[in-house]
Amino acid sequence: MTKLALMVSAALAATLLAGCAGARQQAAEASGNPFATTSFEDILHHDFADKGQAKVSRLKQTHTQYECSKYDYLGVKMPEATAKAIEAGALAHVVYPADGQYLGDWKAGLKIAENGKGMQWSDKPGVPNGGNCLACHHMIANDPSQGTIGPDLYHYGKLRGEGQAVLKYTWARVYDSSAFNACSFMPPFGAHKILTEQQMKDVMALLLNPHSPVNQ
Ligand code: HEC
Repeated sequence: MTKLALMVSAALAATLLAGCAGARQQAAEASGNPFATTSFEDILHHDFADKGQAKVSRLKQTHTQYECSKYDYLGVKMPEATAKAIEAGALAHVVYPADGQYLGDWKAGLKIAENGKGMQWSDKPGVPNGGNCLACHHMIANDPSQGTIGPDLYHYGKLRGEGQAVLKYTWARVYDSSAFNACSFMPPFGAHKILTEQQMKDVMALLLNPHSPVNQ
């Protein structure tokens, strides 16, 4: 495209946009509700700004979030085929540890499970994130500050053992829980690079090592 053509098309786009905005405003004024024709996304983009590592681009939904916003998050049952497709897609994208070792250091895993820091505007970029597992799961005895959003994981390893199927399932669960429940509330720790591979191994050890407090 020539420079002139580019300028003309940019001007045309600007006019079209202005036209849209004008029509919206008119409709909103007519209805008496200024938000009537403003999408939720418009409001978010208008009122939020990049701050530290928390960028407005995070507001862009993934396909899964978009689908779940239409159904599960509104209390509407997602069509079976849509849910199955999301789960299969998530499972197919799980990256298992290259060296075949699933279990790291449970002591490091406990620190990760207790740590709710990371990815916030006020957190220092580059510092490893926490997993905040205890905010949602009961995992260890005698700690009253554990959450109940997720299932009770106390005695996880003791009850399930350390067989290959358990290792693979647990890894995939932590990597991307939507592989098993399309609209899971559990953060996709691997898929969204919240935890590193080593950190995932450490929380795996916390869940499965017989000496970890989870299994006492
Ligand atoms: C925001 C809440 C939340 C956080 C944080 C969270 N989980 Fe979960 N987790 C859940 C929910 C809810 C489920 C139940 C399954 C579902 O609905 O997807 C679950 C399921 C699981 C399961 C499967 C349990 C089973 O019975 O098979 C494992 C294992 C697990 N979480 C481990 C972890 C670990 C390890 C962490 C931290 C790295 C963590 N979770 C952080 C909410 C959370």
